[in-house]
Amino acid sequence: MSPAAPAAPDASLVGLRWAIKHSFLDYVAKTPDGRAYVDQGASVTASNDLVFPPRQARLKGAAGGVDTYEFGGEVHFVAYGGMLYVRIGDPVIHVCGGAGRLTVRSVDDADRSIRVELATFTVGDTGSGVAGPTQWHATDVRLAAEGVPVFADVYSTGEPLAPLQVRLPDAQACG
Ligand code: HEM
Repeated sequence: MSPAAPAAPDASLVGLRWAIKHSFLDYVAKTPDGRAYVDQGASVTASNDLVFPPRQARLKGAAGGVDTYEFGGEVHFVAYGGMLYVRIGDPVIHVCGGAGRLTVRSVDDADRSIRVELATFTVGDTGSGVAGPTQWHATDVRLAAEGVPVFADVYSTGEPLAPLQVRLPDAQACG
């Protein structure tokens, strides 16, 4: 995978669009046997952004004013004969006020129910949600403490990650 430009509005996008971390994608691509593949409905854009499809409607204020957005799909990174294996699957976003956090399924294949808080972020511009899709961007996306082991402790808590973009289909938009 090659470097991707920051996510730009894309009318065809529905779901969570996120490139994880550009330098990590570049690193895996440069290893002798490195590869990345998507599964379970995730896809890759021409600019190497990953797209995780929406799985559940926005649950506005479902828990103490927290909005929850659930997505499906997985991306797998494999290198060094499998010594490097990172899976990022079924991302869920929780937003409260201007702050958000993103959890994913654990890389531990033995128990797929374990979720890890991978990133925290600041919510950027949000759509009105009244007419048309709800779309918003997140900036200042950073590695959460729980996500440090996902990358074998190479990055520290607070490491900058790629910006992310959420767009929901019309039927899921709300005011
Ligand atoms: C045989 C085992 C491994 C070798 C020889 C190896 C080697 C390297 C090397 C040489 C770099 C520096 C790359 C550069 O600056 O261009 C690097 C970076 C990195 N490695 Fe590994 N690595 C190994 C295993 C792993 C594993 C198991 C992980 C787990 C996810 C991992 C994650 C990373 C990350 C996240 C970076 C930083 C990439 C960046 O620049 O953002 N590595 N590794």
